[in-house]
Amino acid sequence: MNIASRMAQIAPFHVMELMARAQALEAEGRSIIHLEVGEPDFATAEPILEAGQRFLSGGHVHYTAALGLQQLREASSGHYFSRYGLEISPARIVVTAGASGALLLALGVLVNPGDEWLLPDPGYPCNRHFMRLLEGRPVSLAVNAASNYQPTATQVAASWGNRTKGLLVASPANPTGTLLDPETMAELTDVVARRGGTLLVDEIYHGLSYGVDAVSALAISDDTFVINSFSKYFGMTGWRLGWLVAPDCYVREIEKLAQNLYIAPSTVAQHAALAAFEPATKAILEARRHEFSLRRDILLPGLRELGFKIAAEPRGAFYVYADSSALAADSDELARQLLTEAGVAATPGLDFGSNDPQGHMRFAYTIERSRIEEGLARMAALLAPK
Ligand SMILES: Cc1ncc(COP(=O)(O)O)c(C=O)c1O
Repeated sequence: MNIASRMAQIAPFHVMELMARAQALEAEGRSIIHLEVGEPDFATAEPILEAGQRFLSGGHVHYTAALGLQQLREASSGHYFSRYGLEISPARIVVTAGASGALLLALGVLVNPGDEWLLPDPGYPCNRHFMRLLEGRPVSLAVNAASNYQPTATQVAASWGNRTKGLLVASPANPTGTLLDPETMAELTDVVARRGGTLLVDEIYHGLSYGVDAVSALAISDDTFVINSFSKYFGMTGWRLGWLVAPDCYVREIEKLAQNLYIAPSTVAQHAALAAFEPATKAILEARRHEFSLRRDILLPGLRELGFKIAAEPRGAFYVYADSSALAADSDELARQLLTEAGVAATPGLDFGSNDPQGHMRFAYTIERSRIEEGLARMAALLAPK
């Protein structure tokens, strides 16, 4: 075997393995409540599906330009104007293979070997592995409930070293569902700019916030890299489509990398996504957002009642990140017990970093309300003092 040494530092995505275990139990006939799944349960919205089918029936499924279909780049630009009142030139918008492709392209043009990037911990696990793949060094920035699980400018300033080149944040964030407020976003933009670094903001959960509007980092600076996706709010996970907004001067470099890495994003997905910004689709997606908020309003108090501590109110995405320390010393063991004894699948903190993972679990409200209630009841029966 000649496996590259870097692979020793690329951990598996544990939630995928947990899902596989849950599915194996289901195959044996067990009923499992899935609170681990990080994707919307709804089918692709009808107008998007129809647009994809119309395109497919023409049969012309060829490559598009590496930066994506011009019409889709223009439609995305229109989305920034209608949703945020921002004028973002389509020339700065790159259509990608999911936010994953966008992250890889952005980091691919930014990270030199040995560069350090600050990443909030807990955070989305793939980021530190992308960094490792590119021979950069992810530096964990421990965040906690007191700062809404988001970094502060003071913390970034204190952690910035000689080799630090950037900060990567997400708002709303995975696994915590918390948002950066406009003031903190502006302060982070400023602290990074003053050090000549790059700010990359993952806005993949934009559209999915409850009782609060997420501010786009693009409202503050054109120098920020912004990632987004059709996966979450637009409910198109399996179509593998996202986008990246980059400062003008980087677009040619990103284009070269996209051409070489995967030639172009999926043509069918891009044609389907042309319908994603239409008013009829928006009506469907907004109804779904409302449904997510109702689910959140069941899961959040339900978990608190079971003894989980949730000190920072999750107001976005579809996750609750809960402190499980009052219930178990090790969340990995608790997850195993919940799955095998109660038939409830939830993600232990392990995936999200090294900042007290044993004390935390992530619950996703990507299933129907009645199933969430059933999951809570099962957990109550298991966790009740005997
Ligand atoms: C914060 C965050 N960024 C990026 C991604 C990747 O999403 P996709 O490649 O499906 O757009 C995910 C997926 O869960 C995520 O949670």
